[in-house]
Amino acid sequence: MGHKKVYIYRSFERFWHWMQMILIFFLGFTGFEIHGTYSFFGFEEAVIYHNIAAYMLVSLVVLAIFWHFATGEWKQYIPTKEFISAQIRYYIVGIFRNEPHPTKKTALSKLNPLQKLAYLGLKLLVIPVMVTSGLLYMFYRYPTQYGVESINIATLKYIAIVHTAGALLLVAFVIGHIYLTTTGEKVLTNLNAMLTGYEEIETDEEDNENLKENNSQQLSNQYD
Ligand code: HEM
Repeated sequence: MGHKKVYIYRSFERFWHWMQMILIFFLGFTGFEIHGTYSFFGFEEAVIYHNIAAYMLVSLVVLAIFWHFATGEWKQYIPTKEFISAQIRYYIVGIFRNEPHPTKKTALSKLNPLQKLAYLGLKLLVIPVMVTSGLLYMFYRYPTQYGVESINIATLKYIAIVHTAGALLLVAFVIGHIYLTTTGEKVLTNLNAMLTGYEEIETDEEDNENLKENNSQQLSNQYD
């Protein structure tokens, strides 16, 4: 077993990840004030800030979609059946017995099978539901104003329920996500990788040659 430094997360990816974290955190913070959970900015200001952050998130999502298709990185999220039960067993049992991770991270395969599923669900379900219900929340009055009956929304009730349920799901995701970031080789290994782009990875001799190849390929891309 050796150790290799591998370039896993490119610069746009790290920017996108941390911007998304800040925006979702801020949207949650202002959103639950709008919901009435506590008072910090005051309702009206909270709404203004929530709207600004929402437009920023929509712009970031558009950029990220473009990046995923332009680089082909979207393929990282294609779900696989292999190793799913091994990964679940690892988080329930293996992790507490110091067993090795069932899958290895490489530049070409940076997500384990559970991450693929969770992140795909976030990208295809939770984020679109939040953006759609949020935009409906903002603009539901317009069809009514101009008498467009076919897209008339009589009440905000269901939109508010969906948007709040999505927000709670996101809070649960973030808590689980932060816990799981600590389950890398050392507590801060994964966090460090998302900050610097590089991660120290355990390798067998056989992997070393492949990693060298992937690494030089990725290094040539690092300034993309
Ligand atoms: C682009 C995405 C989003 C848009 C367009 C959006 C838009 C909105 C709007 C317009 C409101 C209602 C403000 C008012 O009452 O005037 C709202 C409420 C709220 N938002 Fe968002 N939002 C988005 C994302 C998020 C995210 C990511 C979260 C949580 C992490 C969140 C949490 C909330 C909560 C908890 C409320 C209060 C719901 C209620 O009690 O009725 N929002 N949002």
